[in-house]
Amino acid sequence: MNQNELKAQTGQESVKYIKSGMIVGLGTGSTVRYMVDELGKQIKEGKLTDIVGVTTSSRTSKQAKELGITIKDIDEIDHIDLCIDGADEISDDFQGIKGGGGALLWEKIVANASDKKIWIVDQSKLVHKLGAFPLPVEVIPFGSQLVFDRMEKKGYKPSWRMDGDKKFLTDEKNYIIDLHLGEIDHPMELADELIHMVGVVETGLFLNRVNDVIVGTEEGPKILHAR
Ligand code: 5RP
Repeated sequence: MNQNELKAQTGQESVKYIKSGMIVGLGTGSTVRYMVDELGKQIKEGKLTDIVGVTTSSRTSKQAKELGITIKDIDEIDHIDLCIDGADEISDDFQGIKGGGGALLWEKIVANASDKKIWIVDQSKLVHKLGAFPLPVEVIPFGSQLVFDRMEKKGYKPSWRMDGDKKFLTDEKNYIIDLHLGEIDHPMELADELIHMVGVVETGLFLNRVNDVIVGTEEGPKILHAR
């Protein structure tokens, strides 16, 4: 099976955890795309009813609306039953890096509002230690070069996320700085340090947040219980 087939497998499997009447957080990324397609299909077939989606990016909103899934703004609801999202790396102790698709801020807000969180990944995303995947950090444009320089001085090997020859813009019209750390020994301390840099809006470190992980493997989808 290639990586896309594993992504499709876990994306489709995750829809089994959605029950009629739920408010569902819809993540972002290529794995989530398969989940949203399957959700749209099951709603169309009448297998799932009264589903409301809350999306984590304008991309996912567009896809969900095209499939006829009812979407509400995060400020129109008071809770989310279940959030299903992708991840870029998941360590042995279920800490994660997200934001490879640039949606980390809305993803963290939606995850925070969710009673239960499931990450859907292919097996290549499981790592011993976080950090090989560049850590995304969302920063406001004003003064962002100073933030970048500070990160460089600290040895965090920053690079600007680009979109062609322009800086990538998030849904909130912010920039992303990717930190090429190699290995992250102390994710909690790092998250705390980064979030306290003036100009940083959010980091892609998703710590102690996930309940279950569905992994696409050659032998079929596997569920890992984090907490
Ligand atoms: C987007 C994300 C994605 O969930 C993450 O990048 C995984 O994406 P994919 O399923 O395409 O590998 O955090 O900001």
